[in-house]
Amino acid sequence: MAKPHTPSDGRRAIVIFGATGDLALRMLFPSLYFLDMDGLLTHDLKIIGSARSAIDREAFCAKIEAAVAERAGTAFDPAAFARLRDRLDYVSLDVGGDGDFSALSGPLKGVGEIVYYLSTSPSLYGAICEKLKAAGLAHKNSRIVVEKPIGRDLASCAEINDQLAATFSEDRTFRIDHYLGKEAVQNLLALRFANTLFEPLWNKVSIEQVQITVAETVGVEGRWSYYNDFGAIRDMVQNHLLQLLCLVAMEPPADLDPDSVRNEKVKVLRSLRPIKGGEVERKTVRGQYTEGVADGLPAPAYADESGGGESSTETFVAICAHVDNWRWAGVPFYLRTGKRLPSRTSQIVIQFRPVPHSIFERTELLANRLTIRLQPEENISLTLMNKTPSLARGGMELKPLALNLSLDTAFKGSRRRIAYERLLLEALNNNQTLFVRRDEAEAAWTWIDSIVTGWDDMSFEPTPYPAGSWGPSDAFTLLGLNGHRWYD
Ligand code: BG6
Repeated sequence: MAKPHTPSDGRRAIVIFGATGDLALRMLFPSLYFLDMDGLLTHDLKIIGSARSAIDREAFCAKIEAAVAERAGTAFDPAAFARLRDRLDYVSLDVGGDGDFSALSGPLKGVGEIVYYLSTSPSLYGAICEKLKAAGLAHKNSRIVVEKPIGRDLASCAEINDQLAATFSEDRTFRIDHYLGKEAVQNLLALRFANTLFEPLWNKVSIEQVQITVAETVGVEGRWSYYNDFGAIRDMVQNHLLQLLCLVAMEPPADLDPDSVRNEKVKVLRSLRPIKGGEVERKTVRGQYTEGVADGLPAPAYADESGGGESSTETFVAICAHVDNWRWAGVPFYLRTGKRLPSRTSQIVIQFRPVPHSIFERTELLANRLTIRLQPEENISLTLMNKTPSLARGGMELKPLALNLSLDTAFKGSRRRIAYERLLLEALNNNQTLFVRRDEAEAAWTWIDSIVTGWDDMSFEPTPYPAGSWGPSDAFTLLGLNGHRWYD
């Protein structure tokens, strides 16, 4: 069982570096606002924002209020914000330059337990940790939360991890993958481990293939210079898609203790069959969007969004992966993600095997399929063969029907939470279950690195696809070669 969290003596604080940046304004402060509104923050929690801007507390609070009001829309309650405002403080600090970290000592006076949230460029992580340590602010009751990307390959990931480890031990390091904070992603654990129905079937004997799709309609949204250095495989597959794959493929953990869950995920990552050299041509697809239509509007080509011309970065990737262990031997796990696709859909499809012998001569039987839709709507649907109500001559007629569980309807009225609400709360409660452990991040990079090296060695360039389509036709061939097709 997870250790119950006992806050240390004194007040508690969360310090957000990069507090005026996009992530903080769009996600972190609105999340803290909702947590506060729902009474989930302890009364003694201080929230300290820090950024380079030389503004005072008043101006900072006004910025946060505007951001929260925009995100909350009609749910914005000035009285609730006033409570959050009382917790807020601001320290202007140039963390990448000669910022004097002792400026934090005043606001942190009397605080016993501190969470440092680094919503900054990862290139600053090392310097921030060092300076916190030098200022005596990285004591044993403090911990650190870091955002992706943790590196762009195994070597740079290990380097960042070493920098973090020089100040914060692993049990005080919280690596965010915001997909782990999503309600529907959490529900995967419930579906698999709180029901007896699936577990006996959850293996190569009954399952033919698994598909994991995270499709976006948006383009790179002004993040070209970051994205162009990463591409879809590093931006999405290394983290979000592999985390989903882990939750589908892992063995039942002994409990929800951080290490029980993360040990099982690491075993899956280490069982991923490497895709090397020339294999990349058969097992992976890279694409880059060209001009087209997205969300009903004309969309420019990826290369034109830069203002800088050509690029060989992929905005779409599809992979046929295998988890080489007893449970999954021979079952393809198809991964697919891309920008400027026809719909915003994240889903996991578990395709079961067909019945071994059909006694229903008049109907072609469709094998059962479990579809777990993560977003935009959250629902679970299981396709089953049913008899049609008729008195047809010559035998029964059957039809596939879906058993649908709409979580949006079942829990109507409950607000869909921002993934960061859960993650912030867990970090404040010192529970690492939903955070990525060092060996997990590094095992994911090891697998991704082999593919990227294959791409480089084979000069495997992205194939163009029109914005608004489901990627290059090779993505269909990838499955077609195994007699499979994508389920949209
Ligand atoms: C981020 C990626 O991690 O996830 C973005 O950097 C992507 O490129 C985003 O758009 C998708 O997240 P969500 O929650 O909108 O599915």
